[in-house]
Amino acid sequence: MALVTTKEMFAKAFDGKYAIGAFNINNMEIIQGVTDAARKHNSAVILQVSRSALKYAGPKYLLYMVNAAVETTGVDLALHLDHGPDMETVKVCVENGFTSVMFDGSHYDYEENVAKTKEVVEYAHARGVVVEAELGKLAGVEDEVNVSSANATYTDPDQALDFVKRTGVDSLAIAIGTSHGAYKFKGEAKLDFNRLETITNKLESAGISNFPIVLHGASSVDADCVALCNQYGGKIEGASGIPNEMLRKASSMAVCKINMDTDLRLAMTAAIRKHMGEKPSSFDPRGYLGDARQLIQGLVEKKITDILGSVDSMK
Ligand code: G3H
Ligand code: 13P
Ligand code: ZN
Repeated sequence: MALVTTKEMFAKAFDGKYAIGAFNINNMEIIQGVTDAARKHNSAVILQVSRSALKYAGPKYLLYMVNAAVETTGVDLALHLDHGPDMETVKVCVENGFTSVMFDGSHYDYEENVAKTKEVVEYAHARGVVVEAELGKLAGVEDEVNVSSANATYTDPDQALDFVKRTGVDSLAIAIGTSHGAYKFKGEAKLDFNRLETITNKLESAGISNFPIVLHGASSVDADCVALCNQYGGKIEGASGIPNEMLRKASSMAVCKINMDTDLRLAMTAAIRKHMGEKPSSFDPRGYLGDARQLIQGLVEKKITDILGSVDSMK
């Protein structure tokens, strides 16, 4: 029983028209909540670690806890660096047993993104590690998205083809209207599915078939969860996420990896606030962290069954 890469997961997900959930991890309770949910539904899952999570917990703690989850649950797990900023961070992760890394060069100009991504691909592939890259800019809630701004910030399909050919990446995160955090849309939620389809068609026509696309900023920001936070003293106003039916649609298309962090943060916070609110005399961390773990498990189970469609995806 060992960590796996995302290669086989994505090949099966593309064929089966479903997606694998990629959940950000920061501590033991999140790892356990996510992997217990995956085990219950016989689903593969990706555990991903941001640069700030690496700093918070340390790569060794994360690796050892994730390996404990592999041994305990038997789930097909990939350990992934999320938004890797540079080669140095990529190296730390590869040296610490990560099976997948993202290099996020989306803020560089195009040629620099190509060059830096290519360097990461050469380093990682030589060590059996797969690479995700990013092209295009994820929208912010303040961004007014009209046709010309979408063309300026969303992933350009011709560039996507060129990027994949020149870098040799294993998967590509694209910008089609999602954004990070709990405040994704001011008005109506809108994703550019035509652009996603065009990107896939261009790749297919060039002989790059079944190429896995990644959707970042894909939390649905469940209204009940936000309400629970607010009921117990929170102040989260105007939050909105990606509607579940859009995520289902993306999963049935070329999107093989769906990234969620905000939903886990909200669930954890809601459970802890509720625990504290209802049991003011409680001060045992296992009480409130246990509640948080349970709510996270329930949330991830729903993602697997109702959105991702990855039930029984384990080999
Ligand atoms: O995409 C970003 C993730 O939500 C990670 O956030 O850097 O605060 O850990 P973080
Ligand atoms: P959310 O903020 O929508 O959860 O997105 C997380 C993400 O994309 C991590 O890379
Ligand atoms: Zn992201």
